Amino acid sequence: MWLRVIIFLCQVFSCGFAEESSCTPGFDSESFVFKVNRDHLHRGKTLGRVIFNTCDVRSRSVFQSRDKRFSVRTDGSVTLKTPVTLHDGYMMFDVHAWDSSGMKHTASVRVECTAHHHEDHHMNTAVNITPQLKSFPDDLIVRFPRSSAGLKRVKRGWVIPPLKESENSNGPFPQYLAKIKTDFAIETKMMYSITGEGADQPPVGLFTCDEHNGKVYVTQPLDREKKASYKLIAHAVGEGGVREKPMDIIIEVIDQNDHKPEFTQNPFNGNLPEASPKDYEFMTVTATDADDPNTPNAEVRYSIISQDPSLPNPNMFDINAVTGRIRVVSSGLDREKFPKYTLVIQATDRRGEGYPTTGRAVIIVTDSNDNPPQFEQDTYTVSVLENQVGVEVAKLTVTDGDEPGSPAWLTKYKIISGDKLGVFNISTGPSQLEGIITTLKPLDYEKTKQYILSVIVENDDPFVGSLPTSTATVTVNVEDVNEPPVFNPKEKYITKPEDFPVGSDLVAFTATDPDIGRSQKLTYRIGSDPAGFLSVVEDTGMIKVKSPMDRESIEVKDGKYKAIILAIDNDETARATGTGTLIIKLEDVNDNAPYINEREIKICNQEVPPVLLSITDKDLHPNAGPFSVDTYGDTMKNWTAKMNDSATGIELMLKYPLGPGVYNVVLRVFDKQKLYQDTLLKATVCDCKGESVVCSEKRTARLSLSVIIRIICTIVALVSISFLLVYFMRPQICFGQGSV
Ligand SMILES: *[C@@H]1O[C@H](CO)[C@@H](O)[C@H](O)[C@H]1NC(C)=O
Ligand SMILES: *[C@@H]1O[C@H](CO)[C@@H](O)[C@H](O)[C@H]1NC(C)=O
Ligand SMILES: *[C@@H]1O[C@H](CO)[C@@H](O)[C@H](O)[C@H]1NC(C)=O
Repeated sequence: MWLRVIIFLCQVFSCGFAEESSCTPGFDSESFVFKVNRDHLHRGKTLGRVIFNTCDVRSRSVFQSRDKRFSVRTDGSVTLKTPVTLHDGYMMFDVHAWDSSGMKHTASVRVECTAHHHEDHHMNTAVNITPQLKSFPDDLIVRFPRSSAGLKRVKRGWVIPPLKESENSNGPFPQYLAKIKTDFAIETKMMYSITGEGADQPPVGLFTCDEHNGKVYVTQPLDREKKASYKLIAHAVGEGGVREKPMDIIIEVIDQNDHKPEFTQNPFNGNLPEASPKDYEFMTVTATDADDPNTPNAEVRYSIISQDPSLPNPNMFDINAVTGRIRVVSSGLDREKFPKYTLVIQATDRRGEGYPTTGRAVIIVTDSNDNPPQFEQDTYTVSVLENQVGVEVAKLTVTDGDEPGSPAWLTKYKIISGDKLGVFNISTGPSQLEGIITTLKPLDYEKTKQYILSVIVENDDPFVGSLPTSTATVTVNVEDVNEPPVFNPKEKYITKPEDFPVGSDLVAFTATDPDIGRSQKLTYRIGSDPAGFLSVVEDTGMIKVKSPMDRESIEVKDGKYKAIILAIDNDETARATGTGTLIIKLEDVNDNAPYINEREIKICNQEVPPVLLSITDKDLHPNAGPFSVDTYGDTMKNWTAKMNDSATGIELMLKYPLGPGVYNVVLRVFDKQKLYQDTLLKATVCDCKGESVVCSEKRTARLSLSVIIRIICTIVALVSISFLLVYFMRPQICFGQGSV
C-alpha cells in the first residue's frame, strides 16, 4: 500500500518534472548493433542509425566515428567510406556526439554479420536499420524564453533553435508541428496566436495555431525549393493584460530528393585537337540539382553512357564523376577519319545513387598539323627570258590533307638553295596550295645561263611531331634576248673649233653589243643632227664634219651642239638599236666682224651733241670688243666718229653745220683682232638746234609750186563758170527781144 503511494507520488512528481525539464541529452543506448548479411561491405553502404537525444528542437547533431572507415551523418546514419571486410564476422567502434552545452557523449557500435550461410538471400542489399525517428516528437514544446532567475525576460536577440519539418509530407493535414507554451499558463488562461509569413502574411494560412492550447499545425505539404524557411512570430496573451513578449519561431523545411539533376546545357560542345595527348582534359559538363545543396540530394555524379562512333575504340573518353571534366584517355584521335564524337552522359544525384538525367556532349575533333604539304611534282624545268623583272618563273602546286583554310593547311615556301644573289622571289599563290616563283632582279644570260633552286613548303602552323618536309627542285634556264648595242660612254663630250674643216674626222663614237653569245655586226647612223653639221662612217662610227659648223648657229646652245648617234645590230629577227649622245663644244673663231646696229639717223645741224651708235659682234671675247672706228673718203670731210669711253659705242658728230638733206655716212668698225666691216648709215640733217630734231621742208620751192597749181586751178574754174553763165543767159535775152 505504501509502496503504491510512493510509486504514485513518484509518477506524479516525475511526470510533472518530465514535462518541465527532465530531458537529459545523450545516446538512446550505450551500444548499437547493426546486422549485415555478408562479410564484404562496399563503399557508401548505410549500415544503420545511432540515435542521439539533443533535448532541443534540433534533429541533427554532430557525430564522429573513432574508426575513420565509417562516417556518421548528422541524422545519425552510419555509412562506409571504404570497402570493409568483417574478418571475424563483426567489428566494433565508438561514435561520439556533442550536446548543446558542448558535452561529449560516446556510444559503441557493433557491426555483425548474420552468418554467411543464412537462407535470406533476398536481403543482400544489406541492412537492418532501426526504425526511423519522427522529425518531431509529439511533445515538441516551444517555450517562451525566461531567465533562470524567474519571471525576468531574457535579453533581446536570444534565438531559439529552428523547427524542422520535411517537405512533401503526405499528411493528414492539418499536421501537428509543435506546441507553444508559456509559464503564465500555470497561473492564468493564455490565448496563443502566430503571425508572420505563412500565418497572416502570404502564404496566409499555411501555418495555424490553436489559440487555446498553443498547438501549431501545417496545413499543406511544404516545398523547400519554393521556400526553405519561414519565420513565424508567436504571441501569448492572458486575461488581465498578461502577455509574453512575441517570440520568433523559424521553421526550416528539410529537403527531400524531389528534383532530378539538370544539365545546364544540352548538348555540351567541346573541341579537341586531334594531336591531344592522353589525359588531356578539354571540356566540362555541369548539372545542377534544385534540392538542398547541403544534402546528398543535390550531390551529382557524372558518367558516360555511350560513345558514337565507338571507333577506333569505344572508350576514348573518361569523365570525372565529381567535377564533370571530360578527358581523352586513349590514343587514336584522327580528324580526317572521325571528326566528331557524341557522348551520352548521365548525371545522377545522391552521389550517383539517386535520380539520373541524361544529356549529350558533342566533341569536334579539330585539326592538328599532322599532314605535311607535299609538292605534286618534285622537279621542274623552266625557261625564262633574260632582263625581265617580276615575271612568273614557275608555279609549284602542293596538296595538304589538313582542314582547308586552317593554319595547318595554309602553305608558305622558301628557296633554300640556288639563289645566293636573291634573284628570285617565292610567294604563296591565290589558291593557297601553290608557290609562285618570280624574278626579283633581271636575269642575265651573259652572266648565268642556269639556276638550280631547291624549294621547301611548310604550313603556317608547325608540324605535329617529326614529319618530313617536301622539297622540289626547279631548274631555271635563262634564255638569251637580243639586247641593244651600248655606247660607251652613253654621252660623249668633245671640244672642237667651229671652223673645224669640212670632211675631217671629229671623233670615233662606238658602241659594243652585250649579246656576247652572238656575233653581231653594228652599223652607225646619225639619229639627230639639227643643224646638219655631221656625218658618220657606217662601219666605224667615225663622226666627220659634213658642213661648216657655226658656234653662232641657233642650234648651238651655250656653245654646245648636241647630236644623237645610233648603233644598230644585224639580228635576223629583231634588230636592236642603241643610242649615244655626242656633245660638241664649239670653240669660237673670229668669223664675224662688228657692225653698227643703227641704219638711219636724224640730226640737227646746229649746236648738236654727238649721236651714239651701238655695235654688235657675234663672236666672243677676244674676237669682239673693244672696238675701234674709222672714217675715210667723203665721209671723213663732213663727219667725225670716235669710240665712247668704254669702247663699245660710237659717237658720231658733224664737222660743221651741213645744209639740210639726206647724206650717206660710211663707218668702218674694227674688233679687237682688227677684223672690220663698213656700215652705211642714212643721215637726215635738219635745220634745227640741239638734241630735239625738228625737220621742216624746203618751203620756198615747194610752196610756190603748189600755189601756182592752185592759182591755175582757180583761174580755170572761174573761167569755166563765167563761160557757162554767159552761155545759159543768152537765149533768155533773145526771147525777151522777140516778144517785145
Ligand atoms: C615577293 O612577292 C610577294 C607577292 O607578290 C610580295 O608580297 C613580297 O614582298 C615579295 N618579296 C620581295 C622580297 O620583294
Ligand atoms: C659734204 O658737204 C658738202 C657741202 O658742204 C657737200 O657738197 C658734199 O656732197 C658733202 N659730202 C658728202 C659725202 O656728203
Ligand atoms: C658706249 O656706247 C654703248 C653703245 O651705245 C653704250 O652701251 C655704253 O654705255 C657707252 N659707254 C659709255 C661709257 O657711255
